[in-house]
Amino acid sequence: MAEALHPSGDDRFAVLDKHLKRTHHAQDQLIETLHVAQEVFGYLSDDILMYVARALLLPPSMVLGVATFYHLFNFEAQGEHACSVCTGTACFVKGADAIVAAVRDGYAVAPGATSEDGFLTLRTARCLGSCGLAPVVVIDGNVAGHQDARSTLELIRAQARIPEEVN
Ligand code: FES
Repeated sequence: MAEALHPSGDDRFAVLDKHLKRTHHAQDQLIETLHVAQEVFGYLSDDILMYVARALLLPPSMVLGVATFYHLFNFEAQGEHACSVCTGTACFVKGADAIVAAVRDGYAVAPGATSEDGFLTLRTARCLGSCGLAPVVVIDGNVAGHQDARSTLELIRAQARIPEEVN
């Protein structure tokens, strides 16, 4: 039997509501709730942050403060795939800027933005905590060390070929 559409008209909120119910709208579940919201929506828009704030009876400023503090959350729509290049000192001296340039040119996407076709979001990060593996990139959540421009582009291409049922 089909479930009723969420009153918002967007059934993704129903998934978030289920999580909120399961965790009894507990304020100490804020980070977990933001994770679920990001998983469901792909990013945290102002509306979603407000929804979470209301659901947990927390001030919106606090929810936004927590979301921005942890660097785990995206606040804009993301591409189908994501590539983060660490540009911290250890990675920078080992050529991170060449990796950023190769991805930028290869996919016509500026750091911090998503390509026009929605295929790839390119990000840079300060330090991913794996300096011994420098230069480090993260493709769709998979950390890869000792990368260069060519291997990073290959990883992105390989990632794009992985069928959805894998993972
Ligand atoms: S500087 Fe890149 S992982 Fe630390």
